[in-house]
Amino acid sequence: MEFVNVYEDGTRAQAYAKMEFPGTYYLAYRDLPEIILAHAQGRGRQAIDFGCGAGRSTRFLQKIGFDTVGVDISGDMIKIARAVDPQGDYRLMVDGDLGPFGDNSRDLVLAVFTFDNIPTGAGKVKILRELRRVLTPEGRLVMLVSAPEIYTHEWASFSTKDFPGNKNAKNGDIVRIIQTDIEDKRPVEDVICNDDAYREIFSSTGFQCIETYKPLAKESEPFAWVNETRIAPWVIYVLKKAACCCTLSHG
Ligand SMILES: C[S@@+](CC[C@H](N)C(=O)[O-])C[C@H]1O[C@@H](n2cnc3c(N)ncnc32)[C@H](O)[C@@H]1O
Repeated sequence: MEFVNVYEDGTRAQAYAKMEFPGTYYLAYRDLPEIILAHAQGRGRQAIDFGCGAGRSTRFLQKIGFDTVGVDISGDMIKIARAVDPQGDYRLMVDGDLGPFGDNSRDLVLAVFTFDNIPTGAGKVKILRELRRVLTPEGRLVMLVSAPEIYTHEWASFSTKDFPGNKNAKNGDIVRIIQTDIEDKRPVEDVICNDDAYREIFSSTGFQCIETYKPLAKESEPFAWVNETRIAPWVIYVLKKAACCCTLSHG
């Protein structure tokens, strides 16, 4: 089945524009300030928010002190990001091409949920090479993705019970999930990619993974957690350019 970027859609973009960090999403963003500051502070403030959507993650990066340009391939998302934040810098990009950004020009790239929507391994490789090109030698890429487990469990604000086929999904297969606390309850289609596959892609594109985080919820937090206290729904990778890029010709 052909994969369609479900974010190329005005209704979904509107729903995203109203969303901050509710429910299970809270856990995605909860630790990011600490993680980003631990790994990227003092390395410069020029950032790209790759796959910025309606600008939630771009505004988040601005707030923690980075001069951030949000980029996305969805015209609907970019239009809404600009309307919500007229002072912000949001740019529509062609898939896999960060052309206007110079080599070694960005200290930090943040990609929150973007790689869940890049359908093929080859597409992920192409984009990671481009992100590597624009990162400074000491720059950091912080990538948050959905853990495969998210597609086979129930959550405070996501449901997958209507999609039993998710259980048999292999790397590269389409999986479906519904966000339960927004108006737009149509299923989102993502592409599953497990930890081993991500690590292979990182090393074949000249990245070294320096830390991996799997955030778990705490009982004391003000949400009706379902599985979040024992299963991490998200994975956060912190990457830097590998010292040797002899593997760059692969993939
Ligand atoms: C789930 S949204 C996340 C938006 C934002 N990062 C946030 O946390 O609110 C994923 C975004 O990635 C974008 N996207 C998907 N494939 C992309 C690609 N190849 N290049 C750039 N953006 C892409 C989608 O259009 C969508 O806006």
